[in-house]
Amino acid sequence: MSGIVNKSADIRKIAVVGAGYVGLVSSVCLSELGHEVICLDIDRERLTKLLSGEVDIAEPGIAEWMTRNAEAGRLSFTDDYRKAIPDVDFVLICVDTPVDAFAEPDLRNLRAAVYGVADYISDGACIVLRSTVPPGTSQLVSGWLGNSGNRSISIAVQPEFFQEGRALEDCWNPIRIVVGSEKEETALLVANLWKTREAPVVVTDLATAEMIKQASNAFLATKISFINDIAGICDAVGADIDKVAEGMGHDPRIGFSYLKAGIGFGGSCLPKDLRALLHTAASKGVAVQQLEATIAVNERQREIVLRILSEHLGNLTRSSIAILGLAFKPGTSDLRDSPAIALAESLALAGATVSATDPAISSEIALRVSGILKFSPDAYSAANGADGIVLATDWEEFKNLDWQRIADSMAGKIVVDGRNYLEASRIETAGLKYIGIGRNS
Ligand code: UDX
Repeated sequence: MSGIVNKSADIRKIAVVGAGYVGLVSSVCLSELGHEVICLDIDRERLTKLLSGEVDIAEPGIAEWMTRNAEAGRLSFTDDYRKAIPDVDFVLICVDTPVDAFAEPDLRNLRAAVYGVADYISDGACIVLRSTVPPGTSQLVSGWLGNSGNRSISIAVQPEFFQEGRALEDCWNPIRIVVGSEKEETALLVANLWKTREAPVVVTDLATAEMIKQASNAFLATKISFINDIAGICDAVGADIDKVAEGMGHDPRIGFSYLKAGIGFGGSCLPKDLRALLHTAASKGVAVQQLEATIAVNERQREIVLRILSEHLGNLTRSSIAILGLAFKPGTSDLRDSPAIALAESLALAGATVSATDPAISSEIALRVSGILKFSPDAYSAANGADGIVLATDWEEFKNLDWQRIADSMAGKIVVDGRNYLEASRIETAGLKYIGIGRNS
């Protein structure tokens, strides 16, 4: 069922469990909508910061919105379930749900949060799962709550679709609002929390809402792996992948987004959700060749740069490679499952010396994540003495580098553009060899 959210809904009392990415952004937006929100996090360090108005996520505008709503008395923070839960109408659960080494979703934080809520939640209240969870998790939550006999806590699933770096915008102006519940009226009550947002509402059962989130991320990942496969053919036949994607994207059935070829997708969501879906499929005996291929192509893309460098530099032992960009995408300092880090590690294994720079990352953090890196403050010092350069994150800062200055300080001439972001002609004018991904270069 689809519709527009009812604009005349009431102001509600809401508790949000987890003040990480999803929880904090949701809390801030719900309080901005006029609701009375209390956000709970058991991490004392994070809580202390929040209480003094400091935010530990890099989202434009979030600190300002948070302060405004806290000062207006609509948003508060605590680490105490006893204080947060008893009087509220809705409890949004926004804790992280990582996958473990065997790709099995690790639901321990979720279970701990539900146990914390279970002792204090009032009868008739509703628990809303915003954490990304595998299909079937809401049934587990019902069991952990002890939702039987005369206890009547309703459960809903409302997935978020936030992109890092624009989460506030994605939450405030959602493209769609998906809510799953056993009862349609519960789902509509949850949708109504976002009352002024003019977004289509999709009301489903619980498992379908859980599937919508993971399938959406899997589809985005599949578009990227698809275009990366096509890029390989472009290289072989002398075609230009960027133009191919542009020509395809004009067809509204295809669209332009997520058709940028390169060294593949990373981050905390796309890889994790794909692995979680594969795990669900395997546990149910369902064949999912497409999803397996999406992952395989992404892993191959990370190795492609290594192959290009070997082709041009020969044995990589004792070669020196500079990596420009470490974050999994620009606009964030997130290194989780970053293709740049995977590349640095493969290069080090091949015997290369690796220098790197990233405008959002400090040397301490880079070294903590990967001990093999020599971290440099900027692209010029990273490139100094390098045999080859790889652009791994398409940061604006790298768009207009002085390539002549770089060429003069390099030992070699190779520039691999892992994001098809740089202007080949400017690099070649400086006497360097430009190689993109599927760019006929
Ligand atoms: C993603 C989804 O977009 C979001 O809806 C969901 O809620 C969380 O996961 P995010 O992790 O912030 O968001 O990353 P996104 O901006 O989607 O990019 C993912 C990766 O794909 C990045 O490494 C990016 O560089 C890469 N990418 C993206 C490409 O390689 N090509 C593209 O065309 C688009």
